[in-house]
Amino acid sequence: MKRSNLTTERLFKAAGISEGMTILELGSGPGEVTEILSEIVGSTGNILAIERSKEMISSAQKSLEKSGNSNVRFIQADLNDAPKHLKNIDLSSFDAVVGRRVLMYLPKPDKVLSSLLPWLRQNGLVVFEEYDSTICPGLVTAMPAHEKGVSLLGKMLSKEGVDQSMGFNLPATFSKAGLKFEAIWAEAVIDGQGDQYTLGELLELLKPRLGSLNVAATSEIDELITEIKMEREPTAVFVSGMRFCAKAINGEGCDNEA
Ligand SMILES: C[S@@+](CC[C@H](N)C(=O)[O-])C[C@H]1O[C@@H](n2cnc3c(N)ncnc32)[C@H](O)[C@@H]1O
Repeated sequence: MKRSNLTTERLFKAAGISEGMTILELGSGPGEVTEILSEIVGSTGNILAIERSKEMISSAQKSLEKSGNSNVRFIQADLNDAPKHLKNIDLSSFDAVVGRRVLMYLPKPDKVLSSLLPWLRQNGLVVFEEYDSTICPGLVTAMPAHEKGVSLLGKMLSKEGVDQSMGFNLPATFSKAGLKFEAIWAEAVIDGQGDQYTLGELLELLKPRLGSLNVAATSEIDELITEIKMEREPTAVFVSGMRFCAKAINGEGCDNEA
C-alpha cells in the first residue's frame, strides 16, 4: 500500500473506523480510500460512496473488483445535492461519514455535512482527512525552486477555489454543521519521501491544469522541475504540505430531521 494510504488507514482507525461499520464516503475519486475503508469494515460492513465523476467511479469499481472487495456501492451525484439521492435509504443507516481531500473542494462544506446528518446514527462518527498548506512550505535550508513550486501549486488551487486551510478549518466546519468536535491530528508531508510524489513529479502531472489556469507556461514548469531536481539532497527536509485528520460525533441534542 502507498505510504500516503497507510497514513490514511492509521488515522481512520485511530478515529474509530472499525470492522462491521456501515460507512458513507464522500468524494471517493479513484477509490483508494474506498478500498481502505472496505478492508477495515470487512465482510460484515458496507460502504456507500458518493462521487460526481463517472470516470472516477468506473476506475474505482475496476480496482475494487481486482482486489475482490464486494461490500461497496457507488452513487454518482454532486455532494451539494446528495440528500435527494439518498431518499431511498433509511435515516440513521450509517455509523460514519468519511472522506479524504474532499471538503476542501466544497464551497460550503458545513452545509453538505449537515444535510447528510439525518442518515448518520446518533453518536455516529464524522472523520475527514484534509490537505492544508497554511504553515507550508517548511524548511531550514533555503530551497528557492521548491518554494516556487509550492507557490505555483498554491496559486492553481486558489484559482480553483480550493480551501487550502481546510485542515485548520475542520473543527469550525464540524461545529457549524451541528456536530460535536472531538479530536484533530496533523502530519507533515515531506517532499518525495517514501513513495510519495516529489514536488517535481507533481508539477509534471499538473502541467495541463497549471497551463489552462495561466499559472505557469509549460516551458517555465520544465525549467523549474530541472531546478528542483538539482536542489534535492538526500538529507534535505522540505515540508510541502500537511495532512490533517479530524473527528466529530453526531451527538445528543443535534437536530437532524430530513
Ligand atoms: C482530490 S480528489 C480525492 C479523492 C479521494 N477521496 C482520495 O483521497 O483519493 C477529490 C474528489 O472529490 C470529488 N468531488 C469534488 N467535489 C465534489 C462534489 N461537489 N460532488 C461530488 N464529488 C466531488 C472529485 O470528483 C474527486 O474525485
